[in-house]
Amino acid sequence: MEAKDIKKIAVVGAGVIGNSWTANFIWKGYPVNLWLYTADEEDIAKQEINEHLESLAINGVFGKEEIPDMMKLVKYTTSLETTVKDVQFIQESIIEKLEIKQKFLADIDKLASPDAIFASSTSYLLISDIAKFSQYSHRCIGAHPYNPPHLIPLVEITIPGGDKGSIKTAELAAKFYEKINKVPVILKKDVPGFIANQIQGAVGTICGELLVNGVCTVEDIDKAMSFGPGLRWATMGPYLVYQLGGGKGGIKGITLHIRGESGEPMDEQERKQLEMYANFIQGEVDKEMAKRPPEFGNDNDSLRKFRDRLIIKILREHKKI
Ligand SMILES: NC(=O)c1ccc[n+]([C@@H]2O[C@H](COP(=O)([O-])OP(=O)(O)OC[C@H]3O[C@@H](n4cnc5c(N)ncnc54)[C@H](O)[C@@H]3O)[C@@H](O)[C@H]2O)c1
Repeated sequence: MEAKDIKKIAVVGAGVIGNSWTANFIWKGYPVNLWLYTADEEDIAKQEINEHLESLAINGVFGKEEIPDMMKLVKYTTSLETTVKDVQFIQESIIEKLEIKQKFLADIDKLASPDAIFASSTSYLLISDIAKFSQYSHRCIGAHPYNPPHLIPLVEITIPGGDKGSIKTAELAAKFYEKINKVPVILKKDVPGFIANQIQGAVGTICGELLVNGVCTVEDIDKAMSFGPGLRWATMGPYLVYQLGGGKGGIKGITLHIRGESGEPMDEQERKQLEMYANFIQGEVDKEMAKRPPEFGNDNDSLRKFRDRLIIKILREHKKI
């Protein structure tokens, strides 16, 4: 199967994430079978999906008159068989409980085509565990979205460990997600919390420590993040931020400066290791920059201009400019 062969999608679970995924898929023109845990979830699902689409229309992404046709692409059902029997891609988005996800996968293995990709929206469970008993584990991936999936492009992809997973499935899913403008990242290891939730978790831990130690208030932390690093992180990741923070010396310069000149004194061996690390990280950032289209910034000068343009747009919305 190729990404172009994915024509119809099953979304299993009509909660916060399932409804948002559904809005995303129908916006991009894909028919969706949406599985409901109970029949009375249908009205709430319709309302939430419609709200997501209205929000996109109000903000000029498409015309409001297109929404009724998009809404017609959803088939609501409590039958798992009806949900998965004729689809090529299954975005599982039910409650975060391992045994329940495993049971659903066992049922899906009996009801869906073995070629259909099973993509779990799980936040912290391992796809290795979810797919542990599946006879079709090669079609399984962790596919972690960021709330709300219809707006946030990131999808973090993992495969079951050992010979139970298939990198080809991950690559195919990544191509499909790219087709609908998502930004997939395939992890090299199946880890709880993927990349972004681990980073977010570390931030949360420090926030808690600052509060408990009486350093600042909740409001201070929210201001510090959204009017400080958050503005930069909305435009690029931490490594490109450091690249610009290092001026002409780039990330190598700032790494050597922060650890080398401002940190504890180092012996010759430590200095050599730092130099090696700084060279390595600069090489990685250079590779990343070379891949970027020029209009998004692919050298220090164009990257700075890109950052400034985006930050100014956000600050206008905050009425800070
Ligand atoms: N909320 C987030 O910010 C977020 C972000 C990324 C990923 N996720 C992941 O997406 C998945 C869904 O999370 P959510 O936030 O949409 O949760 P939710 O509680 O909003 O929705 C869960 C859905 O599962 C259904 N459900 C409840 N009990 C069930 C059962 N016993 N069997 C089958 N279905 C049952 C509910 O009716 C509901 O439709 C989880 O795996 C979660 O980790 C959540």
